[in-house]
Amino acid sequence: MRKKLLLGNWKMNKTPSEAKEFALGCPKMVEYAISKGIEVGVAPTFVCLQTVKENAPKGLIVAAQNCNEHPSGAYTGEISIAMLKEIGIDTVILGHSERREYNGETTEKCNEKMKALLAEGMVPVYCCGESLETFEAGKTKPWVEEQIRGGFAGIEAKDAAKIVVAYEPIWAIGTGKSATKEIAEDTIGFIRSILRELYGEVAEDIRILYGGSVKPGNIAEYMSEPDIDGALVGGASLALDSYQGLIEGLVG
Ligand code: 13P
Repeated sequence: MRKKLLLGNWKMNKTPSEAKEFALGCPKMVEYAISKGIEVGVAPTFVCLQTVKENAPKGLIVAAQNCNEHPSGAYTGEISIAMLKEIGIDTVILGHSERREYNGETTEKCNEKMKALLAEGMVPVYCCGESLETFEAGKTKPWVEEQIRGGFAGIEAKDAAKIVVAYEPIWAIGTGKSATKEIAEDTIGFIRSILRELYGEVAEDIRILYGGSVKPGNIAEYMSEPDIDGALVGGASLALDSYQGLIEGLVG
């Protein structure tokens, strides 16, 4: 059974004091989610990770939004996996479309990071998704297939099971134009079929999230689809009341 997962991607939002306020305000809803068998987490910026980790209840997953693939060294401005581990972080988002677009993050680079994280027993949340142009040209599946095959290249089945995939169509991110549940399920089911081809039964254990304009009012729709295991949420994960609404929608 795949556990449902709600992960809030805070992107470049919240100062440390704002992040702390969220952490201090979330214990009850986190407890409620856990009692319903749901995993919940947030991905603050690097400078907010420690304060959220220290002030939020233990059950809240605190994820980083990126990491470097090298163990240490002359990589100015980068953050290593060891640094994250030392402050208790065990989950890292990789290959978000914003990082692919603005920071030159490639699928090959994500694959290197994925392997480095898995070697350290960490959980990668690997993002994929197509642009509006690709979607309108009817080329979503080949596009996403390349991202999945490239991202998982050289990763063994025992490790693959730990990876979380997030399908986020770029045209649905921050636009208010969420993909219909049918579109999301069609692509996510397709992603699972590729994973099945690569890993057989292990594919049934890999969680695949939908992301893109998920709100308290529409999250339940996605959860009714068989292959969608949760959501990666940007804007609607920032405020406590909205985050609570997401949990309630997910619980159904
Ligand atoms: P929004 O929920 O704001 O559309 O962002 C989605 C996203 O990019 C999560 O990673």
